[in-house]
Amino acid sequence: MANPSLLILAGDGIGPEVMDEVKKIITWFDAQGIVSFDVSEGLVGGCSYDAHGTPLTDETMARALEADAVLLGAVGGPKYDKLDFSVKPERGLLRLRKEMDLFSNLRPAQCFDALADFSSLKREVVAGLDIVIVRELTSGVYFGEPRGIFVEGNERVGINTQRYTESEIARVARSAFELARKRSNKVCSMEKANVMESGILWREVVQEIHDKEYPDVALTHMYADNGAMQLCRWPKQFDVIVTDNLFGDILSDMAAMLTGSLGMLPSASLGLPMENGRPKALYEPVHGSAPDITGMGKANPIACILSFAMALRYSFSLGDEASRVEKAVEKVLADGVRTADLMGPEGGSPVSTGQMGDAIIAAMQASL
Ligand code: IPM
Ligand code: MG
Repeated sequence: MANPSLLILAGDGIGPEVMDEVKKIITWFDAQGIVSFDVSEGLVGGCSYDAHGTPLTDETMARALEADAVLLGAVGGPKYDKLDFSVKPERGLLRLRKEMDLFSNLRPAQCFDALADFSSLKREVVAGLDIVIVRELTSGVYFGEPRGIFVEGNERVGINTQRYTESEIARVARSAFELARKRSNKVCSMEKANVMESGILWREVVQEIHDKEYPDVALTHMYADNGAMQLCRWPKQFDVIVTDNLFGDILSDMAAMLTGSLGMLPSASLGLPMENGRPKALYEPVHGSAPDITGMGKANPIACILSFAMALRYSFSLGDEASRVEKAVEKVLADGVRTADLMGPEGGSPVSTGQMGDAIIAAMQASL
């Protein structure tokens, strides 16, 4: 049988640096005879714009649709801030999400015990935290029409449209309920049904899917602003949160910070199954391209490495190997290995991106 294929789109800023550490792990799995991937690479974001005048070429888009899984680093940077909106680096990522139809974005926020004191919240609030935000990723205000900047009378008006169809809500709700059944059987759905019709429909459809198909799962609803407050106040009340594209964007950054560092959080964006039964899937760290530390060897590769672990679990049914990676991360953190973003106010000597990757591989080796 052919090896499973991986398309690596390292992107901009620290993307290539953190992806180098994932490549080391891929090489390690190959050398151990555990799993071998056919790896190919492509450009996305600013680097693609520099080379081809577009943040994503049709050719790369087609390869992404073919691949068994796509791994993405990060896109964007100040160099591209002045570009026309239609060719901004982020458009490349949004096109991938839309054309691959990756409607279900899983963003786990897990607080590693070794980092509990590092959160801006008190240890007891975050220690042991393990929640997943399921963010709808291909619709809502990110894609709704009409959109644009128009002239009305003697002034400009900026328009975006929040739009959700029943079927879009239903499918992301199902993915959240399915996930909940593998966890603590608990889902909290967040919207603004108090001010938005799309929120009213969201709440109704989530409730209907629950009542018809997942009555065993405990479902609650919350307004998204209250949800933000509750995430700060007592995040351990949640297990799976399901929410729309924009609220999910905001709430997942906040959940990320509960864990101590944005540099820790992976994500999986999943779509419908392909012919070979694997879901269309893209894996990427939640953090951005971090232009301020690009090229300095300071970036934390853990979010990207944990994203690869999610690929092992969700695309390749290698849950045990995913756990091996995750446990290795936990081990090095417990051993006090820290990149610069994980240094507390008292300081210390941080390791480089490459040293963190090497430490994780050493821990994986020791686990054999
Ligand atoms: C994210 C990012 C993206 C988003 C940007 C880079 C387009 O913030 O993945 O959370 O807004 O979805
Ligand atoms: Mg975001």
